[in-house]
Amino acid sequence: MLEHLTVVTHPLVQHKLTLMRDKNASTAEFRKLLREVSQLLAYEVTRGLEMTTKRIETPMQPMDAPVLAGKKLALISILRAGNGLLDGVLELIPSARVGFVGLYRDEETLEPVQYYFKVPESLDDRLVIAVDPMLATGNSSVAAIDLLKKAGATNIRFLCLLASPEGVATMKAAHPDVPIVTASVDERLNDKGYIVPGLGDAGDRMFGTK
Ligand code: URA
Repeated sequence: MLEHLTVVTHPLVQHKLTLMRDKNASTAEFRKLLREVSQLLAYEVTRGLEMTTKRIETPMQPMDAPVLAGKKLALISILRAGNGLLDGVLELIPSARVGFVGLYRDEETLEPVQYYFKVPESLDDRLVIAVDPMLATGNSSVAAIDLLKKAGATNIRFLCLLASPEGVATMKAAHPDVPIVTASVDERLNDKGYIVPGLGDAGDRMFGTK
């Protein structure tokens, strides 16, 4: 069982995160690092998954070997920056089902506005992992989880690269049943809702936009 908040302090994660934070990292470097870190974080966020056994034969003898149990899990990317985390996690769990929640942040109110929602069927039978690199105000993450619960999901985990203390508190208040896995909880949010020290706009940095 995961705690409400898991900060992955593994040296490789922290080293790669530092390289990503550096404003001089190129788009290609940022993307590559995000893919690598997302796989290390995926290892943590999938901890404790239900297992069963399958009869196989090794070259030596038959054995009942452990395999994942139950329906394929669902990865939900919170657009657009979620796609940067999604790609790496999918490489590790290629049979996962994939959904998308499109939310943009109104720059004045910082409130989330929904523009797209497409998720796999039978969410109630699956472990659902929602991914978004930045848990900033927490407003869009809470809204995305609200939508996933409305669509039937009951077993949800949230994976992000960076979180703010404010975002963690907002998520905990709204969705105490959703464990968060992240590489860092940074100092604070600034008055524009950006995480500091953070890494800037994750979407812009991974897609090379401004
Ligand atoms: N979204 C980002 O991409 N960066 C932040 O710091 C906050 C929200």
